[in-house]
Amino acid sequence: MSLPKAVKIVEVGPRDGLQNESVSLDIETKVKLVQGLANAGLQTIEAGSFVSPKWVPQMAGSDEVFNQLTPTKAIYTALTPNMRGLERAIECNVQEIAVFAAASEEFSHKNINCSIAESLEKFKAVTQKAIDNNMAVRGYISCVSGCPYQGDVDIKKVSTVAQSLLDMGCYEISLGDTIGVAKPETIEALLIQTLKYIPAQKLAVHLHDTYGQAIANIRQSLNMGIATIDSSVAGLGGCPYAKGASGNVATEHVIDLLDALGIEHGVNLEKLTEVSRFISHKLGRTPLPDNDSKFTTK
Ligand code: HMG
Ligand code: MG
Repeated sequence: MSLPKAVKIVEVGPRDGLQNESVSLDIETKVKLVQGLANAGLQTIEAGSFVSPKWVPQMAGSDEVFNQLTPTKAIYTALTPNMRGLERAIECNVQEIAVFAAASEEFSHKNINCSIAESLEKFKAVTQKAIDNNMAVRGYISCVSGCPYQGDVDIKKVSTVAQSLLDMGCYEISLGDTIGVAKPETIEALLIQTLKYIPAQKLAVHLHDTYGQAIANIRQSLNMGIATIDSSVAGLGGCPYAKGASGNVATEHVIDLLDALGIEHGVNLEKLTEVSRFISHKLGRTPLPDNDSKFTTK
C-alpha cells in the first residue's frame, strides 16, 4: 500500500497532555495554548474534557476554556464520559465530542468506573444525543496493545469494540496505545486484524511514547494506509489512570517525519515550536530540542 498524500493531525496536548501534568494551569494559559495551536495550523484540537473534576482535577474549568476560545478554522473537541459531560459540551457549543472506551476490562473499570459493555451502553445514548445536537462524535479505544492492569489484550476485542462505536454513530475510531508498549510488529498485527472490518479512513492512531516507539509505530501505520494521527505538542501528557504512561508522541516529531516522507499536514513548524516552548516554560519542563538545531554542533 502507498503512503497517504496528506495526514490529519488531531492535537491532543491541551487535553491528554495537560490532564496528566502535576501543575494545573490557569484558564488564560490553556486558552493561549489552544489558540496558539490553531494559529500554527492544527485543524483539530482536543481543547479539554468534561469529565468529573474529582477524577481529573486538571480538566476542571474546561467549560471556561471553551467559552473563551475565539472561533478559527480549527475544530475544538472535548472528551465526554457520560450525559453530564455531554450537557456541559452542549452548553459550551462544542462542535465535536469524543467518547472513550477500552479493549481492557480492568482499565475500563479504573478509568471510567464501569465495564466495557456498560460503557458502550452509556456511550450509545451520549452519541445519539450528540448527533441529535449536530455534533460529530469520535470514539477512542484505550489499551489496544496492552493494559497496565491486565497485561495482554486480545486484539480481536479491539475490532469488536470499534465496530460497536461505529454502529452507534462515531465517525472515526482512535486506537490508543495508552501505555506506549506497542512495537511496529504489534501495530502491524493490530491493523491487519482491525482493517478486516474497518476501513483505514475511519481509523486513527493515538500512540503514547513511553518506550520511544511511537514514531516507528506511526511509520508502520502510515505504511498500512492510516492517515489520521493523534499527537501532543511538546510530547505532553499521559493518562492519570495508567501509571507510568508518558506523553503522546510529540506533534513536532510527527511533523518532522511527515516532512521527510513528503506527506502534507498543513502545520507551520516554526509557530508550533513557539507554542511548544511557551507551554514547556509554563509547566517547568525542558523544551524539546528544536528542529533547526539538529545538525549544529555548538
Ligand atoms: P463515577 O464516580 O462512577 O460517577 O465516575 P458518578 O456518576 O457517581 O459521579 C461522581 C461525581 O462526579 C458526582 O459528584 C457527579 O456529579 C460528578 P458528587 O455527587 O460526588 O459531588 N460527575 C461529573 N462532574 C462533572 N462532569 C461530569 C461528571 N460526571 C460525574 N461529566 C466518571 C464516572 C465517568 C464520571 C469518572 O470515572 C470520570 O470522570 N472518568 C474520567 C477519567 C478520565 O478522564 N481519564 C482520562 C481520559 S481517558 C485517556 O486519557 C485515554 C485516551 O487518551 C486514549 C488512550 O491514550 O488510550 C483517550
Ligand atoms: Mg491518551
